[in-house]
Amino acid sequence: MSVVFAFPGNEAIAASLSKDQHQLGEFTWRHFPDGESYLRIHSEVSKQHVIIVCSLNEPDRKTIPLLFLAKTARSLGAQKISLYAPYLAYMRQDRVFHSGEGINAKYYAELLSATFDEIVTIDPHLHRQHDLSDVYSIENKVLHATKPIGEWILQHVKSPLLLGPDEESEQWLSEISRTINAPYICLTKQRFGDQDVTLAMPDLSEYKQHHVVLVDDIISSGGTMLEAIKLLAKQGFSKPMVIVVHPIFAQDSYQKLQQVSANVISCNTISHASNEIDIANLFG
Ligand code: R5P
Repeated sequence: MSVVFAFPGNEAIAASLSKDQHQLGEFTWRHFPDGESYLRIHSEVSKQHVIIVCSLNEPDRKTIPLLFLAKTARSLGAQKISLYAPYLAYMRQDRVFHSGEGINAKYYAELLSATFDEIVTIDPHLHRQHDLSDVYSIENKVLHATKPIGEWILQHVKSPLLLGPDEESEQWLSEISRTINAPYICLTKQRFGDQDVTLAMPDLSEYKQHHVVLVDDIISSGGTMLEAIKLLAKQGFSKPMVIVVHPIFAQDSYQKLQQVSANVISCNTISHASNEIDIANLFG
């Protein structure tokens, strides 16, 4: 029997874990007047397997309390401590792009690996690294949202053309395409700044009878998707559908995308108004 602690926003995933094998734990997380976190575990964790469910969007705000909760569980005698992070942060800075930079993916992995025994996550942004074990030294497991995304598309979109905005999206697109037997095309992308990207799109005229579904792992500034939608419009494909695994949606990117898309939907790896594809069962 394991004890499962859900950080705010992660209750659905915690609840989806089998009742026979897991019990929900209780803890308090609040802030002192100076902003520091206070944590207290109310459940028995001695000699138990503790699972903490915490999606790591806004990682700078969440990581300290997450580590403190895990360390508190350890101090109370927990036998094994697992982190179930539907979204795993800091995966994109996986190499030095400019002199003077560090490799934040590695530093973040070192931080989490020093406290947890295991990490389970959904579609981490693996691009230049191909395996999560290249980044994380602890036991790890990668789950995939491609099946629930494919099922959603099958139910909701007639004659889909899957479009990935960059080369990195091919890993998701090829898998979805295989499961639902739909064509896919990945664009090429060059990034010049946080919100400054250029994409190259081939001629799509042979797909005029299809409904374009843009799929990516992360939408942050929305710059990548907005650029793809602009290029699609130039080829006469207006208002495509947008699907994302991890809906970060920084600033007003969600509203901007809604204006130019037929629909913007996401998996509930991060709690957001766009959540429509349920991935909670993947952990179960
Ligand atoms: C990066 O390569 C990812 O797959 C996404 O394409 C990227 O993170 C999207 O970022 P943004 O929404 O800021 O363009």
